[in-house]
Formats: sequence, structure tokens, C-alpha cells
Amino acid sequence: MRRPLVVGNWKMNGSREQNTELLQSILGLLPESEKVELAVCAPFVYIDQVSEQVANTSLALGGQDVSVHVSGAYTGEIAAPMLAEFGCRYAIVGHSERRQYHNESNLLVGQKALSAIQGGLTPIICVGESLEQREIGSALDVIGSQLQSVKSVIGDQGLAKSVIAYEPVWAIGTGLTATPEQAQEVHQFIREQLGSIADGISILYGGSVKAANAADLFAQPDIDGALVGGASLVAEEFINIAKAV
Ligand code: 13P
Repeated sequence: MRRPLVVGNWKMNGSREQNTELLQSILGLLPESEKVELAVCAPFVYIDQVSEQVANTSLALGGQDVSVHVSGAYTGEIAAPMLAEFGCRYAIVGHSERRQYHNESNLLVGQKALSAIQGGLTPIICVGESLEQREIGSALDVIGSQLQSVKSVIGDQGLAKSVIAYEPVWAIGTGLTATPEQAQEVHQFIREQLGSIADGISILYGGSVKAANAADLFAQPDIDGALVGGASLVAEEFINIAKAV
């Protein structure tokens, strides 16, 4: 019922030349089967370039963030309808790097998710605990309150139109991956928190996902795909992660 989804988060990487090379390799290797959906989230300045190159292919496009506002005097912000105009289907909201380096609160993340939905995008709502929070045993409490804040803004109706990504902060870019069992425990908890609408909502895992560990993660019943950072910049790795689904 949930179609597996593998999303590449390019973060602040790329150049016009590198993007073309990466996209051509990805498109050349794209599986014909529609079993898995693939998407890339490019830096804003390259959205137009990527949009042109993925037109008429099955590779979907997303932004890495979105403004809570629709238009107006908000210097540096990008609105959901702008992303939609360039063919974006997704917007990542609440990535831990934005929570950490840009002080984004749980409530703001909820508002960004709402703005994405109202602008016709599917928000990929990131949640996850720090190493310290895991070590003191509060991982599930932290994730529960991140989810609850988002729900207080977008309700079940909004959650039903969203994708959730569990990204333990300690596993991002560190080479440390949550074990499949650790990830499954949190994914199952997230699904329980989502209540009656949970079955229709995709929950992705993110944090040092590579071709080599993807199959074991995807074998878990509540892991519906991946949000991939570093490995999404290497076409073969990215495609092999998708094939592992
Ligand atoms: P890495 O795959 O590089 O650990 O990054 C994960 C991530 O933050 C994806 O959003």
C-alpha cells in the first residue's frame, strides 16, 4: 500500500556541471520498474536546472526547505508555490541541520509543513534525537514531541499528506548507522503515534544509508525507504540503494 521512496538530499553540494553529470548517470541507471519512487532534493539555485533535466522522467524533484510564508518581504526565503512552479513534488522540512544551525523550532517545522501542503507539495518531515538524548534514554520522548508539535499545526489531515523521515542526528554524515533493529523500534513508535492514518504514511530512515546497509534496513516492516545524504551524490550508490528496496 505504501510505495517505497528513496530521496537524495544533496545538501549544499553541486555545481551546474556536477549536477548534469550526476543526473545523467542517475537517469541512465534508473530502474524501469515503478516499484520504487526516486527523488532528489537540490539546492534552490539549481532547482530550475534539475527540473529541466528530470522533465519526462520518473525522477521526482524537491526542495531542501520551504518558507512558512507565501510571498512578501522575507529576504532569502523560498515559497512553496515557487517550488511547485518548477515541478517540485517534495520539500524537506525540519532537517536536523536546519534545527541545529538555524534554530528551527518544532512549531516552525509544523508551520513549514503546513505551508508546503498548502502550496501543493508533500513535506518530508524530519525527526530524530541527538546522541546525548539517546544515551539518556529520551529518544522516543524527543521524537514524540517533535511529531506532536507538527500534528498540532497540520492535524491528521496534513499528516496524511506528508512523509516522515527518522534521522538520528548521531548517524548523519558520521558513518554510524542505526542498526536495523534500532531504526525499526523508532519507526514502529512513529507509526503508533500516527494512529488511525498510520498505514498510509511513508516513514523513511536517514543517516549514513549506503548500498551496503540499505537492504537490511528496508527489510524492517516499518521502514518504507530512505533519505540519503552523502551516498546520493554517487549515482551508482543511489541507484543501488533504490534497488535494495
Ligand atoms: P548522510 O546520508 O550523509 O548521513 O545524511 C543523511 C541526511 O541527513 C539526509 O537528509
